Amino acid sequence: MNGPILVTGAAGFIGSHVVDVLRSQFPDRHVASFDALTYAGNLDNLAAHRDDPNHSFIHGDVADRDAVRAAFDAVAPTAVLHLAAESHVDRSLVDPLSFVRTNVMGTAVLLQEARRAWGDRTDVRFVHVSTDEVFGALGETGSFDAHTPYDPRSPYSASKAGSDHLARAFHHSYGLPVIVTNCTNNYGPRQFPEKLVPLALLRAVEGGIVPVYGQGQQVRDWLHVRDHARGLVSTMRDGVPGSTYVFGGEAERKNLDLVTDLLDVVDAQLGRPSGTSRAFIRFVADRPGHDYRYAMDIEATRRDLGWAPSVSLAEGLRDTVAWYLANGPWLERVRSGNYRAWETTWYAGRQ
Ligand code: NAD
Ligand code: TYD
Repeated sequence: MNGPILVTGAAGFIGSHVVDVLRSQFPDRHVASFDALTYAGNLDNLAAHRDDPNHSFIHGDVADRDAVRAAFDAVAPTAVLHLAAESHVDRSLVDPLSFVRTNVMGTAVLLQEARRAWGDRTDVRFVHVSTDEVFGALGETGSFDAHTPYDPRSPYSASKAGSDHLARAFHHSYGLPVIVTNCTNNYGPRQFPEKLVPLALLRAVEGGIVPVYGQGQQVRDWLHVRDHARGLVSTMRDGVPGSTYVFGGEAERKNLDLVTDLLDVVDAQLGRPSGTSRAFIRFVADRPGHDYRYAMDIEATRRDLGWAPSVSLAEGLRDTVAWYLANGPWLERVRSGNYRAWETTWYAGRQ
């Protein structure tokens, strides 16, 4: 399979790393980055590709049928990696309808336009990128896999679940060569600082409070974003249409333990006495309906795609802290009025 690749949500956190992997693995294939540049999208994330003749940027909304159709016509992609989404659970609790619009309607529009552009072609791929949160929450034991029944519990995960069902339905009903992926929590450079890892590390650097929801006993599995991006590109290249591949880091941590380890890395890199940043931790009101635990069994993906996580959590946290400490100008730009407004609204009454 050859030809141009369309990446939606490419100016966001994971999408921009996917573009990096694509451009390095396929120097001869054109990559078109499609993104609405919401508060979470940032063209700085694609700065490495600004002067690359085999990369282009299209400013557009996935829920806007005309914009999506124009992108298909202009790019003529033979593969779509669909990452555009509203992605933050806490925001979905405040504004669920924008999640339905982008995640459900946007995915439906993209699938429909792919169908229009591709007809019955089988030498094309539509990779729909989703989350482990569609599977619900686990207790102390067990893990999700590609066959776990869906049980989404937040407006975010419900909207992602809806989009996953549509993606599979387009494969089943029309034979569109769709592949779905579900992944655990990502972390790494360029993550918008509303998510736990960048939020906690930046608060510690700046001496602000580090908010831990509830008692910090919830468990998440953490995968470095570069490993996820590599896995998505392997899925595009080697995945079987109609299949689901699940990704995870085999690195489960209670939130409080993750934050503590992260803050210790901040202290080490800033040359502060060990334990200084732990004093910034505050237990704040829990997230409503907070899922207790997520974990993923990645054996099938390891076997079928030959993929495995390569960055240990300890190494990945060091890499992430170092990146944020070295990229102050990036941070200033993403901390626009919109970001500040969100931070103020959400945390009001929680500290
Ligand atoms: P992000 O919020 O950092 O980036 C989302 C990108 O999508 C932004 O660039 C934004 O501008 C763009 N976007 C939003 N609405 C759009 C629209 N209507 N049209 C076009 N572009 C739009 O998200 P992320 O963390 O990079 O997540 C990317 C994808 O991966 C999402 O589908 C998410 O559900 C999934 N995912 C994320 C994680 C994680 O831990 N972050 C884990 C598993 C799966
Ligand atoms: P988050 O990064 O929002 O990812 P997700 O909700 O998709 O798992 O949150 C990760 C975990 O950290 C989640 O259990 C909620 C918790 N959390 C905090 O304790 N404090 C915070 O300020 C944030 C943003 C999250």
